[in-house]
Amino acid sequence: MQFELPPGVADGTVYLNGEFLPLSQARIPVLDRGFIFGDGVYEVIPVYARRPFRLAEHLRRLQRSLDGIRLANPYPADEWRRLIEELIARCPHRDQSLYLQVTRGVAKRDHAFPKDTPPTVFMMANLLSTPSAEAVQQGVAAVTAEDNRWLRCDIKSIALLGNVLLRQQAVDVGAVEAILFRDGALTEGAASNIFVVRRGVILTPPKSHLMLPGTTYDVILELARNAGMPCEVRAVAREEVLSADELWLTSATREVLAVTSLDGKPVGTGAPGPVFRRMYRLFADFKVRLERGLEAVPEHR
Ligand SMILES: Cc1ncc(COP(=O)(O)O)c(C=O)c1O
Repeated sequence: MQFELPPGVADGTVYLNGEFLPLSQARIPVLDRGFIFGDGVYEVIPVYARRPFRLAEHLRRLQRSLDGIRLANPYPADEWRRLIEELIARCPHRDQSLYLQVTRGVAKRDHAFPKDTPPTVFMMANLLSTPSAEAVQQGVAAVTAEDNRWLRCDIKSIALLGNVLLRQQAVDVGAVEAILFRDGALTEGAASNIFVVRRGVILTPPKSHLMLPGTTYDVILELARNAGMPCEVRAVAREEVLSADELWLTSATREVLAVTSLDGKPVGTGAPGPVFRRMYRLFADFKVRLERGLEAVPEHR
């Protein structure tokens, strides 16, 4: 049986529970706990020139998320690597966004964990659509919002309703992201990490249960430190964000983008600042070196 795919969705090859098959033929039972409870975790891995970016770190974060929800990892790292490489090879695009998720499987509906139920494993790879040249050159708009999500934001849970509602608050007013605060301090974006520049110093909150430990967040801090750019990882107060010289958001698919308007007001001069432009170049050079194989894929095994 084939499913009709939503508009704009190509019928690419996906991976589901041990099989590679067309997306239009991939199906899971409605009693899957991912569907019923949002009981699962996921990863999004950017793939540049068919090379998965920071794969070891994504697999380590996946393990952390699985541990956080007490679900056994279905595959050892080598098997994940093999399956991911095969999916990348089957995808027609050079640069891809690889999505994977693991749920607690199919069982009678009951909140408590089922016994001896195999997990559901799903992966798909799509064209990586990075921000437009216009978004990079002019920056993007964001809004502020109270972070009303649960207290385990460090788990990359598929239960994203809080994030979905917050992101929609931004979209409703023509912005691209909601920047979140809890008890007066910056946490992260609805689907990104946030960096602030004040008087030339890059500030970002430390990793904690209140934010997702972003893989791009790590790359940005490494690039900044290697380039000798001053940065401080510490709590950032709402007032420091509201009066920032520059604001950036980072994620695997948005890379690093300047936020030039916040709640309808300009951030700094209202254009991407000099520290952003330097970081953007460092990030772009870093990707080129990776693609040319001049740089070992920087991952900590
Ligand atoms: C809530 C949240 N924070 C941060 C990030 C950034 O993480 P990464 O850089 O690994 O994409 C994401 C990514 O989607 C996210 O959903």
